[in-house]
Amino acid sequence: MTTLELSHVSKRYRVRGAGDMLALDDVSFTLTSGRTVALVGQSGSGKSTIAKILTQLERATSGSILLDGSPIPQRGRALRRYRQQVRMVFQDPFASLNPSHTIRHHLERPLLLDHVVPKDEVDDEVHRLLERVHLDAGVVERRPHELSGGQRQRVAIARALASRPSLLIADEPVSMLDVSIRLGVLNLLAELQRASNLGVLYITHDLATARHFSDEIMVLHHGVVVEHGPADDVILDPQHPYTRALRDASPNPEVHFSGAGAATDASRSRP
Ligand SMILES: Nc1ncnc2c1ncn2[C@@H]1O[C@H](COP(=O)(O)OP(=O)(O)O)[C@@H](O)[C@H]1O
Ligand SMILES: [Mg+2]
Repeated sequence: MTTLELSHVSKRYRVRGAGDMLALDDVSFTLTSGRTVALVGQSGSGKSTIAKILTQLERATSGSILLDGSPIPQRGRALRRYRQQVRMVFQDPFASLNPSHTIRHHLERPLLLDHVVPKDEVDDEVHRLLERVHLDAGVVERRPHELSGGQRQRVAIARALASRPSLLIADEPVSMLDVSIRLGVLNLLAELQRASNLGVLYITHDLATARHFSDEIMVLHHGVVVEHGPADDVILDPQHPYTRALRDASPNPEVHFSGAGAATDASRSRP
């Protein structure tokens, strides 16, 4: 079991000519394998900053981040190993894949760099990864622009899984996709989470999918976690006025899902 623990993390961005900007203020939470935690908040609340700090694309200004009790590495091979374990799926599947490379190249790269399988098994592993995200083997020789947004995000997910991580940070993984295919991608993430006992940080501004796909919900408001608890409790009995406002502004989760017809209780990601 893997545990990633953030304690009292704050982040200040230096803004030229405008002084400092406090993007995160004393944020603490724990991510463990086998569980999905939703991080919910409006645009600008600091969600991506948390994702970037967890993958060390940004450094926290203060506070600590421990992976299984050890401070996370800042550089070098140790940082590379850390990033093998804690992988990120970005919001924009159009920007996150390199237009000049084939899908095969995107998937082979982490397999080779991280020595996931022996060289002569790389080809089989690429096909296994495509199968896991339900993509046809025919896409391997294509380039990203030949795929749909949903297919690209599946490639990005397969690439994240290539190094066999224990934790996945998904930063608004479906917000750039057509509404009609969002649930399919979220169901895929839930399926992979269960199959590999992944810990998932599901970042979203959508309370309905947060409730449906997560064990816990954390609500972020101006860089502060104003509410954190079991998903149903946070939705049914929100304690903070901001959570109530968010809930009242979003469609009723039950109506939303029965209306969409694609997610039933039987497909829920948690017991
Ligand atoms: N590199 C940066 N430099 C200065 N300010 C930033 C930077 N990145 C983000 N911010 C600011 O920090 C706040 C939080 O941003 P972000 O974490 O991207 O929020 P979210 O993902 O919830 O939309 C915003 O006000 C944003 O403008
Ligand atoms: Mg963001």
